[in-house]
Amino acid sequence: MTDVRSDPPHARPAGTPTAVVVLAAGSGTRMKSKTMKVLHPICGRSMLGHVLNAASAVQPRHLVTVVGNSREQVEAHVLARQPDAVIAVQETQDGTGHAVRVAMDALHAAAGTTTGTVVVMASDTPLLEGATLAGLVAEHDASGRAVTVLTGEVEEPFGYGRVVRAEDGSVTAIVEQKDATPDQALVREINSGIFAFDGEFLADALTRITDDNAGGEYYLTDVVGVAHEAGRAVGAHRIDDVMQTEGANDRAQLAGLAAELNRRVLTRWMRDGVTVVDPATTWVDVTVELAADTTLLPGVQLHGSTRVGEDAVVGPDTTLTDVTVGEGATVVRTHGSDAVIGAGATVGPFAYLRPGTVLGAKGKIGTFVETKNAQIADGAKVPHLSYVGDAEVGEGANVGAGTIFANYDGVEKHRTTVGRHAKTGSNNTFVAPVHIGDGAVTGGGTVVRRDVPPGALAVSTGPQRHVEEWVLRKRPGSPAADAARAALEEGASSHKGDAQVAPEVAPE
Ligand code: UD1
Ligand code: CA
Repeated sequence: MTDVRSDPPHARPAGTPTAVVVLAAGSGTRMKSKTMKVLHPICGRSMLGHVLNAASAVQPRHLVTVVGNSREQVEAHVLARQPDAVIAVQETQDGTGHAVRVAMDALHAAAGTTTGTVVVMASDTPLLEGATLAGLVAEHDASGRAVTVLTGEVEEPFGYGRVVRAEDGSVTAIVEQKDATPDQALVREINSGIFAFDGEFLADALTRITDDNAGGEYYLTDVVGVAHEAGRAVGAHRIDDVMQTEGANDRAQLAGLAAELNRRVLTRWMRDGVTVVDPATTWVDVTVELAADTTLLPGVQLHGSTRVGEDAVVGPDTTLTDVTVGEGATVVRTHGSDAVIGAGATVGPFAYLRPGTVLGAKGKIGTFVETKNAQIADGAKVPHLSYVGDAEVGEGANVGAGTIFANYDGVEKHRTTVGRHAKTGSNNTFVAPVHIGDGAVTGGGTVVRRDVPPGALAVSTGPQRHVEEWVLRKRPGSPAADAARAALEEGASSHKGDAQVAPEVAPE
């Protein structure tokens, strides 16, 4: 909800803000982490990353980030996302007013001016939406005020700056918790810490504030009092969705915000036609994309640049990071990263897709199968209990159960290629580098060390031989020996009188 009581709007040309200033110099000690607070991830981005994303929605001419604590970490993170960002260094954390003054000096040095609209915000509000910032800027620009503060009403205002209003609704002051009178402490409308300022006014006002308060800091919020005394208008842009302005100070709050952000992300996908069977156990990063009629079963986590195509079914209990799932594919109890799953393909249950796995259309990576750097072509199948590393499996080929692609000789990795429509037996080992030709076949238990020509049958196991009545001699009186004797006496054994050699594959 927008509060329009504060000022009669008098038009100013709308445009992009001169700058967005992001305050990120604070220490965030309650996180108890070697990672700077605002760099902690939530739903696929750092908290700071979410804030920078929201900031970019208003297309500021300059992005200024104030750094101090863990300066190198934060600076590198900002510049990786936005190489042209202005970095302002606040050597000592003397308060939000001091931080913004440092930012305005850096902006002046970089841009030669501070005129126009300047947005100021903290760096730990991951739920903040670009549209909310745009609404703040639009109202501020239309109003001609010196200051517009984003506010909201909360149940428990303790710790926040309280918004003090005059009879006519205009904002006369923001009073910090430590400095609030008992009456002011009852106010439930709070300062979100997000503002739009007239930049010229702000630069001047920051030279007039003092650290003469209970916190002994330069409060940005005192700028409101400066405006009021100078007869400049201050208004509030009040929103209902106050969670957008909530920050995380410790890991418990971070988990709370993550659950809420995830809930919002899932709600958006469900409205776009995705079935989410159990939102409570389904986690989807803000960077993931899902097509309509995707189904996510319970216990699914989708991360990074994961994309899921129409009619695909993912889960239950599946974690995919940077994986592309084709239309109509099913992916059951699978852990995958940097992989591509073709249209109509099936994966799992219990599959492990490591980077470089590419499964073709209608292909299969089945139960207890691990793949790495493996291109498995259209219609090819690796159904059971196998390791497929550094491999190419041709179209329509079938790899037998329990096959190991032995890609590592202890020094180097080598590739194995299996030709189109080849059919390899169970419990094979392919000692790379090796090639199995198109349409070739291998017997059960084969260890393939030499290339197999197209269409050939490869067998490497020794012929099967029988030592007759071995059990009767070696284990006399045992249940096995008794059973064997009975069978032999009855003449019921189909192997009775067999020769000792019974090759599993008859030599031609
Ligand atoms: C601030 C506001 C309060 C508001 C609340 C909303 C002031 C004086 N108070 O209080 O009215 O309700 O935010 O969350 O502004 N920072 C710096 N340098 C500093 C101090 C802070 O960069 O010297 C940064 C912090 O990293 C943080 C932001 O400014 O991102 C806010 O600082 P914080 O100390 O959390 O302010 P609050 O006491 O919460
Ligand atoms: Ca805070």
